[in-house]
Amino acid sequence: MIKAVYPGSFDPPTLGHVNILQRISPIFEKIIVAVAVNPAKTPLFSVEERIYMMKEIAKNFNNVEVDHFSGLLVEYVKKIGAKVVIRGLRELSDFEFEFRMALANRSLAPEIETMFLMTDPAYSFVSSSVVKEIKALGGDISKYVPDVVLEVWKRKK
Ligand code: PNS
Repeated sequence: MIKAVYPGSFDPPTLGHVNILQRISPIFEKIIVAVAVNPAKTPLFSVEERIYMMKEIAKNFNNVEVDHFSGLLVEYVKKIGAKVVIRGLRELSDFEFEFRMALANRSLAPEIETMFLMTDPAYSFVSSSVVKEIKALGGDISKYVPDVVLEVWKRKK
């Protein structure tokens, strides 16, 4: 059984993340969405909120589970017996960060492969940061995020 880990901050999840899940769900037997507890950036949503949102999204798939991790990603991936890390790539600016991270992870744990999916063009500019900026400036974000994100955001106020 090939288990894949889809790690991220998911602060908040976007329809771009959902699109990646839709595309990897038929490829792997099991996908573990791994919500990062301690990313370098300070998240807007608590880890509980991010896990809740991802769990609601995961209900649409029969092979997606949600967990959280702290510390090194590769240690978490080894601990749960997965072999593959999935990352989405949007534009060239993602590439440098992703390339460095994949090489660092490969150096730490050569048995784990990072696989990249190119974004669906419809979501090429959709990121958690863009969504947060649009929302902070009073824009409508309903085109970019799943309903559960709108619901959690409403409760935050
Ligand atoms: O959604 P993001 O913020 O792009 O996700 C980045 C994340 C959390 C996957 C990445 O920062 C990560 O794996 N952090 C854990 C620490 C680690 O293992 N770093 C890799 C060595 S450089």
